[in-house]
Amino acid sequence: MTQMHSYERLLATSRRVNWRLEDIIGGDKKMDFSRPFLPESFARVDGMDFLDDGEKRLLNQIRGHGYLAMFELVERCILPFIDAHTPSRPDQDEWRTPAMSQFAAEEAKHIELFTRFRRDFTESFEVECGFVGPAEAIGAEIRSHGELALAIFVLAIEWATQVHYAESVRGDPSLDPQFKSLLRHHWLEESQHAKLDALVFRELATRAGPEQVDAALQGFLAIGGYVDTLLKQQTALDLASLEKAIGRTLPGGERDAFSQIQHQAMRWTFLGSALCNPGFLEAIGAVSPDGRALIEQVAPAFC
Ligand SMILES: [Fe+2]
Ligand SMILES: [Fe+2]
Repeated sequence: MTQMHSYERLLATSRRVNWRLEDIIGGDKKMDFSRPFLPESFARVDGMDFLDDGEKRLLNQIRGHGYLAMFELVERCILPFIDAHTPSRPDQDEWRTPAMSQFAAEEAKHIELFTRFRRDFTESFEVECGFVGPAEAIGAEIRSHGELALAIFVLAIEWATQVHYAESVRGDPSLDPQFKSLLRHHWLEESQHAKLDALVFRELATRAGPEQVDAALQGFLAIGGYVDTLLKQQTALDLASLEKAIGRTLPGGERDAFSQIQHQAMRWTFLGSALCNPGFLEAIGAVSPDGRALIEQVAPAFC
């Protein structure tokens, strides 16, 4: 990690780019349901020839709902980790605790942002969309792999959001501006989180030693495997939501194609965009070159 990523500099940047919830949502700032919400690289609806254009848009929006719900869930799960690493210790960098407090406050705000977007979605979308749960049990399972494995998972999520914004701006100009604003504002603050979490991971890994780092990498892969089973369940819930929204049941072959394409699309959105991310791989490689090699080995299945 270079000196550029000091707690002091990251805090200064966080304060400069900080935004308020009311700047992003509320009043006339609403989602436009005549447009798609997610970039095609995440939604992967274009190749589903058995859906017409309106149905593809509905599926894109259902996937948008899943995105909001997943980030709300994941950020609720990782907030206690950030809180636990905020208190000051003797001999620490004087900027560490203020930077971590800012990090925690921003994640609490993001949870509220995703919750409010989801509420707006639910009020306007024509059918109720299912989401995996219960959130408490999912969070407990993710946290059960230990602090260091969780630190790697948090790092992965932070880096994934960087790709999410880059793909939403580079991609289709027809995306709903309000959803794009969500991705952009989240990215703005997450960019500091990704670097802060790399500092925290390095501190924890140095204290723990190489054997525990190896164990944590295995724990992280187990978390990834668990998340993948949730994504598979979510694919089935999204199919049910789509069938309700379009008022017809897809025939067997189309259901199979849906499940295969959408599960892989979700793998890329929530796992591949982190595992294949150069920033994430660099942060892991700085602590454990073998760990980086291990992740590079499993990553292609999620991309
Ligand atoms: Fe966040
Ligand atoms: Fe974050």
